[in-house]
Amino acid sequence: MLIAVDGPAASGKGTIAKRLAAHYGLSHLDTGLLYRGVGQQMMGREADANFESRAIDVAMSLDTGNLDEEALSTAEVGLAASKVAQIPEVRKALNRLQREFMERDGGAILDGRDIGTRICPQADVKLFITANADTRARRRTEQLLTRGLDVTYDGILEQIEKRDKDDRENPAGAFFQAADAHLLDTSKLSIEAAFQAALDIVERVT
Ligand code: C5P
Repeated sequence: MLIAVDGPAASGKGTIAKRLAAHYGLSHLDTGLLYRGVGQQMMGREADANFESRAIDVAMSLDTGNLDEEALSTAEVGLAASKVAQIPEVRKALNRLQREFMERDGGAILDGRDIGTRICPQADVKLFITANADTRARRRTEQLLTRGLDVTYDGILEQIEKRDKDDRENPAGAFFQAADAHLLDTSKLSIEAAFQAALDIVERVT
């Protein structure tokens, strides 16, 4: 079974994908981590004349076994990820890694922005997870404060809105909901209720 989960930052897509993977015993790839891995290595180099070619090299040699989820979860790395995600050759290199992952076990769950539209258009089920910007900023602020990071709601909201805009207008391919994706708005749902709603959709469709 192949499941594609897409949606904007802090919509709950990662948590839902993880829970579905555990439920069905499928392997799971958070594709945002790949972009974050490249973005993190390019932070502070934005003014370099060879920024793009360096980012492409980093993407082509990315060690996926060595991505530290916690270190990559900051808002700054998220913005850096959005920047490198606009380079077509970076996307091409990371797309190859995603397709390899998908084909390895014959079944998988991938979450990201373009899984249902470009990486895995043949998915058995496509979910598009959304939540309003206020809810997403509140969730992300709480998450980062719990980890001891020095963040504010206003700062996180601003970063989420900037990233939404960059992703919507990405010249390498704007993100959109696949025509056959099932929309799930988690704004008013607890984690448990959001997971149950996603599970209901998967069970209904497969
Ligand atoms: O999902 P997450 O917030 O970790 O993604 C970080 C950034 O990586 C996104 O804002 C987006 O620019 C980029 N991304 C992407 N395609 C994906 C996953 C993430 O362009 N499939």
